[in-house]
Amino acid sequence: MEKNISIDLKNAAGFISYEEVVALAQQSIRHLDSLNAGTGAGNDFLGWLSLPDDIVKQFDRIEKTAKHLRSVSDTTVVIGIGGSYLGAKAVIEGLSHSFAPLLKSKHHEIIFAGQNICEDYMSDLLEILDGRNYSIIVISKSGTTTEPAIAFRILKDHLERRVGKARAADMIIAITDSSKGALRSLADLNGYDTFIIPDDIGGRYSVLTPVGLLPIAVAGADIRMLVRGAHEMALITRKNKDAVSNPSLMYAAARNLLLQTGRPVETLVGFTPRLHYFSEWWKQLFGESEGKEGKGIFPASVDFTTDLHSLGQYIQEGQRILFETFLSVAGTRKKVTIPPEKDDSDQLNYLAGKRLSEVNNNAETGTILAHNDGNVPVIKINIPELNEFFIGQLIYFFEMACAISGYILDVNPFDQPGVEAYKKNMFALLNKPGFEEAGKKLRERLGR
Ligand code: PA5
Repeated sequence: MEKNISIDLKNAAGFISYEEVVALAQQSIRHLDSLNAGTGAGNDFLGWLSLPDDIVKQFDRIEKTAKHLRSVSDTTVVIGIGGSYLGAKAVIEGLSHSFAPLLKSKHHEIIFAGQNICEDYMSDLLEILDGRNYSIIVISKSGTTTEPAIAFRILKDHLERRVGKARAADMIIAITDSSKGALRSLADLNGYDTFIIPDDIGGRYSVLTPVGLLPIAVAGADIRMLVRGAHEMALITRKNKDAVSNPSLMYAAARNLLLQTGRPVETLVGFTPRLHYFSEWWKQLFGESEGKEGKGIFPASVDFTTDLHSLGQYIQEGQRILFETFLSVAGTRKKVTIPPEKDDSDQLNYLAGKRLSEVNNNAETGTILAHNDGNVPVIKINIPELNEFFIGQLIYFFEMACAISGYILDVNPFDQPGVEAYKKNMFALLNKPGFEEAGKKLRERLGR
């Protein structure tokens, strides 16, 4: 089995040449240098670079807290949005049993909240929680984001009414800034145990801080192995100036060259539903990092073979504006073999005795060839197995590639000014104090 994840550009070769990719990757070593020297845009948000080393000293406390939550509850509600939820969700889904909630054996359930403001979602959640013994991890770096703040107000009230304020305080962990924000004040006031999100790590780069690691540990995964994988990838990418053997440099270069050939959309492809939320994490990472100043590659995603029966048609024959990046996983955790049937009435005996993974792998190879024939370039990321170690590698690989790619595009990959626009309007429409004038203007615009 391969020791590390790797990048394969063979199926992009008809669209961009390997030599061009190597040349741009080599030119991009200067971006790697500015990341390491802290001289590029957003240089006050580079704490993620050394996280695989820095976080080690927090392992014991994170694991101890996870054990505590598992002992006092059977369910943990993780409240957060954007970078304060997607990393944990991606890793937990990537590692968990596909039908974890339906398992008969005892397991600790992780439920996410505060990632939307849907009334029905919250009402359904409260209904479920009425019958469960739950704890809460509330995560917000700013401590002021509306969606998780509302969810926390409702769930804190619910929990306190059920178990009392003192017991609730023992079942709530807050992950936030060291001193700023409403969540910090609330945590201090109520005596919650807290973890700090360092100032120099932005939300979408925070999965390897307690933001991701605490929920992942509560779910029962091995956070040490996850970080070990990221550490291994940091060794391969962070200071490696041999462009060809640095997969983050090569990937960043390839996707930017494809953009330059008229492909502004990148679709991340997985052949297992376990990668669905990894794609969501990846979309946030690249979308928030690159999509600014009228620039950036639009990050999309599909789950194959499911979506081959929907978006597959567009990818094969629609506008030629996209390229694909396949997350190609070699191993499976379990085995299922297709049984023979005596009369072959469903005409599937040609598959009898084969494992589903063999069929899936052939679907993957067939899709790559078909999409190439349909004029779609494909980058392939080879992943030996979906476990903590390789997911850790993938996380650091993409974080590094995203930072380099942002610098190639000449944007600051560590800010997200555009996220504020909807918030201002929402606050104005809801009459938040301080937004009265803006509210008046919006109501005029809406004719209200
Ligand atoms: O990547 C980011 O910075 C954002 O997606 C944030 O994570 C998101 O907006 C949530 O912010 P906060 O953690 O401050 O509540």
